[in-house]
Amino acid sequence: MQNDSLLKIFCYGNRTNPPIIFVHGFPFDNSMWSAQVAALKDSHFVITYDIRGLGGSPIGDGQFPMHMFADDLLNILDSLSIKSTAVCGLSMGGYISLAAFEKEPSRFSKLILCDTRADADDNAAKSKRAMNIKNINAYGGVRFVQNFLPLCTSEDFRVNNSDYYNSLLERYSSVNERSLKACQLAMMGRADYSHLISKIDIPTLVICGEHDGFTPPEFMKNMAAQIKGSEYHTIPNAGHLAPLENPDYTNNLIIDFLNA
Ligand code: MLT
Repeated sequence: MQNDSLLKIFCYGNRTNPPIIFVHGFPFDNSMWSAQVAALKDSHFVITYDIRGLGGSPIGDGQFPMHMFADDLLNILDSLSIKSTAVCGLSMGGYISLAAFEKEPSRFSKLILCDTRADADDNAAKSKRAMNIKNINAYGGVRFVQNFLPLCTSEDFRVNNSDYYNSLLERYSSVNERSLKACQLAMMGRADYSHLISKIDIPTLVICGEHDGFTPPEFMKNMAAQIKGSEYHTIPNAGHLAPLENPDYTNNLIIDFLNA
């Protein structure tokens, strides 16, 4: 399915079932949710999409602040006539979900935050992004992704699922360098959503891979503690990509949460 901005959108299951939309992280695409789609498509109307510049969605002029990603998410809901839905975002997908929640909280019925954070980049994180862009310019996107993916995944996953891991390396090594840099800039310039956390008043599930080095379990547990009535879980044998690295464990939590 294509909408006005030609984003690639994928819908699964019966439209009369409760909807859930998944928002992927950087520099991934809709396919990172394939295990969640398989687990939910018989009971839910499942939507995945490729965010601007990633997967099959066009980069356009390459200028997209986080607010534009949030508008894309809300526009997709409009295009599918969905008034309110469960939203699940991982890492940058979590930033996008929070930016959209700030704009239109009534569109959210339940929220799942995976391996993400609410605060903006501090100066050190901004310098790191600038260095990432410099390195992409100097050494190319393939090398960037090949260095980045091990940081996103647990050793357990890389060793025990080496074929899958190698397929991820191959798939994401081909991401357009302009998109990699544009996403770095979008994340660098995102607003601070910390103030939203204590205002979230919908059922919220917070999950984090036990070996997540970007947003570690203690950090996410602390964020969850500020969300009224939220549920927090650490996902064993997983890093920053918990739903992809340990899908069975994650899916059981998501199913229980959606059915509660
Ligand atoms: C992601 O996984 O989406 C990114 O690593 C998030 C980030 O760089 O802040």
